[in-house]
Amino acid sequence: MAARGLGLLTSLPLRARRSQVQRPLCRLLSCPGTVAAALGREEQSSGSAETGSEDRTPKKRFSEVQKERREQAQRTVLIHCPNKISEKKFLKYLSQHGSINNHFFYESFGLYAVVEFSQKESVASLQNVTRTPSLGTEAAIPFRSRYFNLKLKTPLNQTSEQPSVQCGTQSSPSSKKLFELLCCAESVDDQLNTLLREFQLTEENTKLRYLTCSLIEDVAAAYFPDCTVRPFGSSVNSFGKLGCDLDMFLDLDEIEKFSTHKASGNFLMEFQVKNVPSERIATQKILSVVGECLDHFGPGCVGVQKILNARCPLVRFSHQASGFQCDLTTNNRIALKSSELLYMYGALDSRVRALVFSIRCWARAHSLTSSIPGAWITNFSLTVMVIFFLQRRSPPILPTLDYLKTLADAEDKCIIEGHNCTFVRDFNKIKPSGNAETLELLLKEFFEYFGNFAFNKNSINIRQGREQNKPESSPLHIQNPFETSLNISKNVSQSQLQKFVDLARESAWILHQEDKDRLSPSNHQPWGLAALLLPSVANNMSLAKKKKKPASERIKNLLESIKSSSTENSTATNG
Ligand code: CTP
Ligand code: MG
Repeated sequence: MAARGLGLLTSLPLRARRSQVQRPLCRLLSCPGTVAAALGREEQSSGSAETGSEDRTPKKRFSEVQKERREQAQRTVLIHCPNKISEKKFLKYLSQHGSINNHFFYESFGLYAVVEFSQKESVASLQNVTRTPSLGTEAAIPFRSRYFNLKLKTPLNQTSEQPSVQCGTQSSPSSKKLFELLCCAESVDDQLNTLLREFQLTEENTKLRYLTCSLIEDVAAAYFPDCTVRPFGSSVNSFGKLGCDLDMFLDLDEIEKFSTHKASGNFLMEFQVKNVPSERIATQKILSVVGECLDHFGPGCVGVQKILNARCPLVRFSHQASGFQCDLTTNNRIALKSSELLYMYGALDSRVRALVFSIRCWARAHSLTSSIPGAWITNFSLTVMVIFFLQRRSPPILPTLDYLKTLADAEDKCIIEGHNCTFVRDFNKIKPSGNAETLELLLKEFFEYFGNFAFNKNSINIRQGREQNKPESSPLHIQNPFETSLNISKNVSQSQLQKFVDLARESAWILHQEDKDRLSPSNHQPWGLAALLLPSVANNMSLAKKKKKPASERIKNLLESIKSSSTENSTATNG
């Protein structure tokens, strides 16, 4: 243990020690700017307001949030600006088209402004005075979107007029800054909350995600005029980290809803349509043309790939202006419902998101997850594992999905493709948990729980909140909450699962060891979560593997001996 913590942290000021006296001082003196900035950011972020926190403020339903954000995005434009610009003049110029509710600037290979008008009509007014550029040797495809390019007739002189544009960041903190913040924290609980604050999507990033969907909707509307493009996955389920991909759902069913109103009397009008042999083929055809459209006409959409033979066909592309990697699917309504379920779980107890973010960051730090598809665990699976673990606490911190279903009323009823996706959506009907365990304890117990889980025979099931016999032989079986015959982690190989188990045991061991050393004054180590995120943990694991006994087993035994000796000590003390 003593040698742990070299590498990245050797270059950091290790002022932050696990000393009760030093920590508050460190917080005030060593990094006032960063902490203040972090707090400022949290106040700005709607994440906590929307998803609830300790202060039991009323939480908005998922559908309400989606509706508000979507409507906001429709009144918003994205403008690529010159690097030097006077914010005041820029806003004055745009105000000619109507009052502006909100705006912000950000940098991503250039300066961009996101401007939200009060009225949708202002967007049309701006479009009316906007020209299609003449490009000299190249030819422009005249697509009139809400993504503009602003040019200055006379560029601002560097010295004469200093631009006063403040840019928000759209990226997560560097690992150096993160370690500094974690080392300055007051407790492991504080570390987990700090990590959440630093990595969660900011208000601006969330707005940019809804705006990007809205811009893509404009392109898809060229074929399907009443379609809706909705974000789902971690962009909206409250577990998104800055930099996560943007999952989009092309919803064509809204069109169906409009047409049902049109039936009257004895007449029923139907559109003449082309028929194809299956729903899947229809999905592939729709995504294929939308993919073409994005490729040819979508401003800022680059690297368009049509991945139509996947289990869930999709179009993948980069949206250059926002920097988002986008996955567009259709006929994927159940995933939207899982996002709503995860959003509810995230909002039910303030510990859920903090724990999920830390586990996601821990997994990323040790290459257990990757942005490239493969045999690794996904963030979605990790989130479901945390939810399951929290359902297993005594008393439970989170209710089972079956219980949420019993609280549902007629309005909540939801059947998608024959799957019952019903659960209560009114937060007021769910009693808060009586469990008061600290995040520190939960983190430690999470690693212990999954370090010892019988993955070979049991399946993880958040519907029932208890292990079940595995119905098939995949190394890791996590039941899809709605499509119960599916395993959301079918892709995970035995070796990746073993790596997860090894690291979980090692991490539990580190935290237990720290408990033992808590009062040792000479321990100049990164501590708590910071120690768990160090790349050297993984390196130590591979070194340890070379020794005789399997590292994971040795750690398991060590852990058990630490636990039994601390139980003996406490019994002796009590006696
Ligand atoms: N999904 C699913 N079954 C899977 C994989 C994904 O139902 N086997 C759904 C989940 O609702 C998930 C969403 O598709 O949230 C998006 O998947 P993905 O992008 O892989 O996960 P995210 O939760 O968005 O996490 P990340 O931040 O890694 O993108
Ligand atoms: Mg995603």
